[in-house]
Amino acid sequence: MLPTPNCLLPFLELKMERTLILIKPDGVQRGLMGEIIGRFERRGLKLAGMKFMQMSSEKAAEHYGEHIERPFYPDLVAYIISGPIVAMCWEGPDAVKIARQTIGATKPSEATMGTIRGDFGMQIGRNLVHGSDSPENGIRETDVFFTADELHEWHRDTERWILE
Ligand code: RTP
Ligand code: MG
Repeated sequence: MLPTPNCLLPFLELKMERTLILIKPDGVQRGLMGEIIGRFERRGLKLAGMKFMQMSSEKAAEHYGEHIERPFYPDLVAYIISGPIVAMCWEGPDAVKIARQTIGATKPSEATMGTIRGDFGMQIGRNLVHGSDSPENGIRETDVFFTADELHEWHRDTERWILE
């Protein structure tokens, strides 16, 4: 393997990650799309892809397959396919952790104020947003929702004011 050029080392050290974020049907129905997108945007994450769509039960099974044995699984699938969602891929150093912190705890009653679930949520089954829980799942889940040509690499002119 060729050695990594020195000029690339700072970028590798930044631990660039991708995370798959969904605005669930309750977020769309409640008119919170702009509010939720704005929180990730203002945090400093960089958008790589976004689409407005309705999930099929097959896609829900692919996305939430890890929960198939859990008692809440049928309700979770019914909820996630019940209306249109916004699927997004955001990227940045530690994007998974940064996005989960922006979203807040799974149960809105335990989510800190200032987080999406803490500010807008009431119950676990209507918790507004999904965020990948590991860098590996960030890649896997992004692949469930986006083809390579739907993900964009672009230069953000404000980059140097967000990342050092
Ligand atoms: P998500 O995957 O949607 O980002 O949420 P999370 O990581 O915070 O929570 P997770 O454990 O992955 O659960 C996935 C979603 O299933 C619903 N849920 N309901 N009734 C229940 O006990 C229960 N537990 C989980 C929630 O919508 C949760 O976000
Ligand atoms: Mg999860």
